[in-house]
Parts: sequence; structure tokens; C-alpha cells
Amino acid sequence: MSASYELLERQVRELLAGETDFIANAANFASFVYHELPDVNWAGFYFLQPGGELVLGPFSGRPACTRLPSGRGVCGAAAIAKETLVVDDVATFTDHIACDSASRSEIVVPLLARNEVYGVFDVDSPLPARFAARDRSGIERLVRAFNEIAGTAKPFESPVS
Ligand code: SME
Repeated sequence: MSASYELLERQVRELLAGETDFIANAANFASFVYHELPDVNWAGFYFLQPGGELVLGPFSGRPACTRLPSGRGVCGAAAIAKETLVVDDVATFTDHIACDSASRSEIVVPLLARNEVYGVFDVDSPLPARFAARDRSGIERLVRAFNEIAGTAKPFESPVS
């Protein structure tokens, strides 16, 4: 659990540099986080659709729920709050949407373009309370790097009202 987020950020920047395709960069970013962070069983994107539904994007891990209704789940709550949500025990988050029963804790970081949410990046762990404060700031740092490099190339307009 002692990932150096500074090093990981440098690696993310190298991994994404020079590629302008948003989906390709999102897919590699999800795979990178999934493989580099210990005790993670899912890492991936959901993108906001008109009306507020979140639809599954590139990810690594087991197949997941494809559509999360507007404002629902940890993902929907983070999208509405425009803030990172960390859930130490998903069983205590009433509106948690269980895609994989192995997941015990979760972090969801919203993706912002021009201060509008266009999606979320979600990471799940089979361990309770996997995401400490340093993981929160570290994963936010990685998502910021992703967004800085890839976010301007996203293939759709931010649909949030
Ligand atoms: N648990 C999420 C749903 C997505 S899966 O974890 C991949 C939620 O409650 O929003």
C-alpha cells in the first residue's frame, strides 16, 4: 500500500504522452491504475450522458454494471457533489451499487472539464478502508494528470446541466 504517487504520476504522464485518442488514453490509464495499485479489484471510467446517467467506459477488472441511473451509487453521488468520495465500507453506504460482491471499499473521483463533470473514475478494493487520505490525494493527482493530458480530447461534449 506504499505506492509512490509522485512516481506513478510521472509514469502516467509518460504512458499517455503523445497519444491524442481519448479512449486509448482512458483504457491505458484504467489498466495502469488497476495493475500498479495493490489490493484493487476494479478501476475504470463512467461517463455522464444527457439526463445524468453514467455509462461504463474503459476499465480493468471484472465486467461491471453498464449504466448507473442519474445520481445513484457512489459514482452518481460523487458526480453530483463534484467531489471525491471515499467509502471505507460499501455495506454502510446505503445507495452503493454492487457490481462485484468482492468489493469492500471504493473511491470515486469526478472528472471535470471547464468546471463541469463529464464522468467519474472509480477504483474498488476487496479490502475494507483501502483508500487512506494519501491514496485519496494520490489518486486525485493521477486523475488530474489524466484529465490534463486526455481530457481536452474527450469525444463528446460535457452534457451536465
Ligand atoms: N459501486 C459503484 C458502481 C460501479 S462499480 O463499483 C464498478 C457505485 O456505487 O456507484
